[in-house]
Amino acid sequence: MSNDLSRRTFLGRIWKLGIVLIGAAGAWTTWDLLQPLPTTGFGGKVRTIPPTAVPETGAVEVLAAKAHLVRIDGELIALSEKCTHLGCRVPYCESSNRFECPCHGSVYNRAGELLTGPSPRGLDRHPIEIGADGLVYIDTSTKIDGVSPGTITMEEPSPGDSCAVEGGH
Ligand code: FES
Repeated sequence: MSNDLSRRTFLGRIWKLGIVLIGAAGAWTTWDLLQPLPTTGFGGKVRTIPPTAVPETGAVEVLAAKAHLVRIDGELIALSEKCTHLGCRVPYCESSNRFECPCHGSVYNRAGELLTGPSPRGLDRHPIEIGADGLVYIDTSTKIDGVSPGTITMEEPSPGDSCAVEGGH
């Protein structure tokens, strides 16, 4: 009888312990998921700005990610600022509304599509995600190849002069 009772007590305690452990694992997982993404420098996930801070026009340079954030038809895109020709840094030119490589003259539209120049493809992209803190994170550890030359999905006017110095290095 007392042997029965102690076995019952033992099994009851094991059940309770199991339930406590399952609860603790669930709480840990939830806590872990709610943590902001780890902030690292270039080569990792780079914490940037709120999505609402990226305007419908122009581009926002994120130096730490060596990238530009643009909004195309409402969608946020992170474009690498490394020219796909020979790797020069490609700035956004406000007057022409284009990305213009100062090295050999490649020009890209705001979606990073190649308009002219020797580059083999459009500007590469990085995945982005919105962290638990509501900010945009650019994953610079991953690169998505830019689109092939001739792929133009958007037409935006070029209101003014080019910024690039042709033939410069
Ligand atoms: S490095 Fe940009 S066009 Fe050559």
